[in-house]
Amino acid sequence: METRDYSKDFKTLNIEVNGNRLVYLDSAATTQKPNVVIESIKNYYENINANPHRGAYYLSVEATKAYEESRETVKCFINAETSKEVIFTKNATEAFNLLAFSYGMDSVKAGDEIVISIAEHHSNLIPWQRVAKDKGATLKYMYTNEFGELTLDEIKSKITEKTKIVSVAQVSNALGTINNIKEIIDYAHSKGSIVIVDAAQSIPHMKVDVRELDVDFLVFSGHKLLAPMGIGVLFGKEELLQKMPPFMLGGDMVEYVYEQEATFDELPFKFEGGTQNVEAAIGLKVAIDYLEEIGMETIAKIEKELMTYAMDEIKKLPYVTVYGPSKIENRSGVISFKIEGVHPHDVASIFDSHGVAIRAGNHCAQPLMRYMGINSTCRASFYLYNKKEDVDKLIEVIKSTYNMFSKWR
Ligand code: ALA
Repeated sequence: METRDYSKDFKTLNIEVNGNRLVYLDSAATTQKPNVVIESIKNYYENINANPHRGAYYLSVEATKAYEESRETVKCFINAETSKEVIFTKNATEAFNLLAFSYGMDSVKAGDEIVISIAEHHSNLIPWQRVAKDKGATLKYMYTNEFGELTLDEIKSKITEKTKIVSVAQVSNALGTINNIKEIIDYAHSKGSIVIVDAAQSIPHMKVDVRELDVDFLVFSGHKLLAPMGIGVLFGKEELLQKMPPFMLGGDMVEYVYEQEATFDELPFKFEGGTQNVEAAIGLKVAIDYLEEIGMETIAKIEKELMTYAMDEIKKLPYVTVYGPSKIENRSGVISFKIEGVHPHDVASIFDSHGVAIRAGNHCAQPLMRYMGINSTCRASFYLYNKKEDVDKLIEVIKSTYNMFSKWR
């Protein structure tokens, strides 16, 4: 497939690291930012900086307009019915905490069950531990098969009439597994449970349509889809959000405040207490516009080609173990791997000396690592700006790392 070289739109991707061209393979942790996003932040501070929703003067009106335009862009991007269903948060973690402490604490009762998968990121796990403990409910896990996948049998054996909340990632940050989220949503709904989807690792890479999925809540972080850090999104069905109590209490989210009580603003403002991250919201809009101009299908194709090539090359190396799905169609642009005889942290340091950025560790998924009987993996993750030569460099550095350690074997 002939595509344009998107790395040219990113200043950081053209720097040198340790005398080498930077090969950035850690987009699952955070993506690099295109020049247009960086420019939009500069423009915000140079031309329209003010506190939104609070001032009747020019700057505040402009800042409010830009902030709300971003909400509208997100609404269209995920196909929500109304922008009232789009709440800005700091990141996906804050969105999960909002859901746990507002929806969870309000609706979960003793004896109820909350179901998540063993492959969840800590942000979609620890808040549910807290709700389960406080409410006397049970936190149940769906376990993955040997390929890091959730089977329908496992889904059906864990989600029951007692389940009140199912919260699961569409794509695993640690293994790259693409879960069949529609199957989980439909089954959970048939048992009367609501479903929360962690789209942090999916929405940057594929089209996500909340109405087609019929998902109740969906969360993601802006910084994993080319936007600045400090902005996340919580989508919720309006009828559910209406019934939920606010999570962050303070300025801007109120209607009337008396000495002993307060009433709250309408959606979505009820959930956005305090001054919001306007520049990051603007950056998110610009990032989404940039992605949509390229097209999510094109992005998915670029990543699939890179993954197919990378997996084919890695399979030729008998001393490399790759975790997660064996079928390329069940895997997003993440390769979690180990090199025989070399600790992942050493691997990451050696890679860095070659200018290659990967993540090593437990990927904020300690229960998954423990379940798999390992402590950590190396993780290379791709995005639209990666190229075939980045994969070649990855393979070359894997080989040289293994060879470097072979003298101690
Ligand atoms: N959640 C991010 C990751 O998977 C930080 O690396």
